[in-house]
Amino acid sequence: MTIAPAQAPVRVEGLHLIRHGASGPEDLVTDLSFDLPRGSALALVGESGSGKSLSALAIMGLLPQGVQVAGGTVSLFGQDSSRLSKRDWRRLRGTRLAMIFQDPMTSLDPCFKVGAQIVETILAHEDISRADARARAIELLEQVQIPDPQARLHAYPHELSGGLRQRVMIAAALALRPEILIADEPTTALDVTTQAAIVSLVDDLRRDLDLGVLWITHDLGVVSQLADRVAVLYAGEMVECATKDEIFAAPRHPYTVGLIDSARVREPGIPFGLIKGSVPEPGAWPTGCRFAPRCPIAQDACATHPLASAGEEHMTRCHFPGKAVLQ
Ligand SMILES: Nc1ncnc2c1ncn2[C@@H]1O[C@H](COP(=O)(O)OP(=O)(O)OP(=O)(O)O)[C@@H](O)[C@H]1O
Ligand code: SF4
Ligand SMILES: [Mg+2]
Repeated sequence: MTIAPAQAPVRVEGLHLIRHGASGPEDLVTDLSFDLPRGSALALVGESGSGKSLSALAIMGLLPQGVQVAGGTVSLFGQDSSRLSKRDWRRLRGTRLAMIFQDPMTSLDPCFKVGAQIVETILAHEDISRADARARAIELLEQVQIPDPQARLHAYPHELSGGLRQRVMIAAALALRPEILIADEPTTALDVTTQAAIVSLVDDLRRDLDLGVLWITHDLGVVSQLADRVAVLYAGEMVECATKDEIFAAPRHPYTVGLIDSARVREPGIPFGLIKGSVPEPGAWPTGCRFAPRCPIAQDACATHPLASAGEEHMTRCHFPGKAVLQ
């Protein structure tokens, strides 16, 4: 008897997000599919406006006003997320699914001491004493390597450095022992050394806690440090997805090749962006391959929109995969 592999806690299938523009609905994200198993780290990379944050927010059930799911499904722990009630979502967020952002003040309240914020989060969800919740808060601050955690419990967020605030935000996100952590560029505003320390911390936590991590970034240096799989987004769609080793050694999509080439000639920690031109705005995507206006090897066939290669470990969306090569 063969046993089917368990479904990943996060499964995105054919996700389609739209907004309503002046001349009707506009696609923002189309045909997005990926799995996020526990203990794994998937990096979502792509230029500004490619749809990374909206995809993450769709998983969290936190899409901003004006953006809607027009198709596809997000399954969370085996359940179709479109069927979850508000109560289900409240239970899920924090407890099984947590998210951290670039600005820690999106998650931390400036008016409360950091210890109180973590303790109240625990008490709101778990039936334990305040003393136990406080002990757990100290343990969490230790886990994210905050020096002198007892004293730091009494600090207000503004009294901490940027790096410490990010660590507190991670501690707060982990307070309820989630299985999945979604990180939307949480280190972009930090200096390179602090950024590397935070990335390495999350990598350790992933191993120790068997966390599934979805990490959104512009920085291929972060990708190489953290990810085991990489998904490259361009103009609202995934154009390539493979293991990190495959992506860096043998990228197949011309856009990925361009990203890696750009990153090579820049300092580590500096975002990519040397590919000529920019990502077209939603509503202005070419009907054929969306990358065609910037692609160095575009041909007539590229006037037809390429489909994602199906059933392969190394997915590409290009009529000529592997034709553009790293110099
Ligand atoms: N609330 C909104 N209403 C309408 N359009 C939106 C909204 N939020 C984002 N968009 C549009 O959706 C597209 C994708 O946005 P998203 O924020 O997901 O990009 P991103 O890849 O995260 O970019 P960045 O790297 O700059 O954070 C962009 O064109 C953006 O202008
Ligand atoms: S489909 Fe054509 S235009 Fe698009 S990336 Fe591939 S080669 Fe370039
Ligand atoms: Mg974003």
